[in-house]
Amino acid sequence: MLRNKRILIGVTGGIAVYKVVDLVSRLKKQGAEVKVIMTEHATEFVAPLTFQTLSKNVVYTDMFATLSNMDVEHISLAKWADLIVIAPATANTIAKIDLGLADNMLTTVLLAKRSPVMIAPAMNTYMLNHKATQNHLKNLAEDGFIILPTDEGVLACGDAGSGKLLAPEKILEAIQDHFTVKDLEGVDIVVTAGGTREPIDPVRYIGNRSSGKMGYAISEAARKRGATVHLISANSSLEVPSGVDYIPIETTEELYKEASRLFDTCDVYVSPAAPADYRPKVFHDQKIKHKDQENLTIELTSNPDIIKALSERKKDQVMVAFAAESEKLVEHAKEKLKSKHVDFIVANNIKKKDAGFATDTNIVTIIDKDSAVDYAKQTKKDLAEIILNKIVKCLE
Ligand SMILES: Cc1cc2nc3c(=O)[nH]c(=O)nc-3n(C[C@H](O)[C@H](O)[C@H](O)COP(=O)(O)O)c2cc1C
Repeated sequence: MLRNKRILIGVTGGIAVYKVVDLVSRLKKQGAEVKVIMTEHATEFVAPLTFQTLSKNVVYTDMFATLSNMDVEHISLAKWADLIVIAPATANTIAKIDLGLADNMLTTVLLAKRSPVMIAPAMNTYMLNHKATQNHLKNLAEDGFIILPTDEGVLACGDAGSGKLLAPEKILEAIQDHFTVKDLEGVDIVVTAGGTREPIDPVRYIGNRSSGKMGYAISEAARKRGATVHLISANSSLEVPSGVDYIPIETTEELYKEASRLFDTCDVYVSPAAPADYRPKVFHDQKIKHKDQENLTIELTSNPDIIKALSERKKDQVMVAFAAESEKLVEHAKEKLKSKHVDFIVANNIKKKDAGFATDTNIVTIIDKDSAVDYAKQTKKDLAEIILNKIVKCLE
């Protein structure tokens, strides 16, 4: 997503400069082109050579340095950038940007800017809460600067509170978010995730190996692409993506109840969750004791077929089902496609290495009424984007 995006990083003189070294490295790994400007005080913390080596570009520290070409450097840098990110942003530089001062390379480039600017403040809690800093940040936000939040914790000075630089991976996420095309704006998506648990007694249940990784990846990617996301999550221990409507459930019947409640008003229903086909017919109020009997028989009764039931109520919704198969992948998926009236099926062979439950990767075939396309092994995050691209086409 960041391939060939031109990102200009402004580094100012705070203790958190070392974390931005990691940010630059992450951006390069994502394929971004990175240039770095450091204030004179920033160079007290980390040498320009570090940023130069990682960004594979000259680091700008001095407005009046004679560079190899004849460009007016502060203007050409401002023109070059697709996005300017100031991290860490000191109280001093934040104040200068708001006041429109141009006394070093960074602040001068910012006066000549043509691209959006993201500011990641980092400072002592008292400096951050100072009326002047707060006023400057408020003014900058009103002027369209993207102000990232700070983290809370123990600061380098030993005080505890807000003001820590947002973690590099979170800054990277904000940058990716900035460049993400919002092609699902206004779309209401229900995503199911995880594996249901069907209780036997107060201690035991019948479950399955689904971790929820695929459903969580789809939820997060859809939210970033602008969708309103309802995540019906069965027993997953994953971190809930920010900004989604999180609906935790345990059993298949609960999943059905929540999906049913949301279905008529949604535009898209995506169901990577693994609900149980059967549940124990009787729930034992007390824990079943081993000594009671030599053999134990648990009678099972059928659970509702959620996809089938919902597809009978289908109007314009795009419906995506998942099929975890151990044999005859395409054949079984095609049967499911017909019987359940879904738009397409994401099928994976759970017997393949690095595919299926609880892995970060999957190997799938996407089957619709016209085609069956095989996808080589990829991360569930990348697969989420592929599935959403296909959903966007179906919505068109
Ligand atoms: C060890 C040390 C750590 C500092 N950390 C910060 C900081 O995290 N945030 C901040 O706003 N200022 C911090 N300062 C103060 C700035 O370096 C100082 O205000 C400087 O003028 C900022 O210049 P610049 O904005 O041009 O980089 C620190 C100073 C020192 C000596």
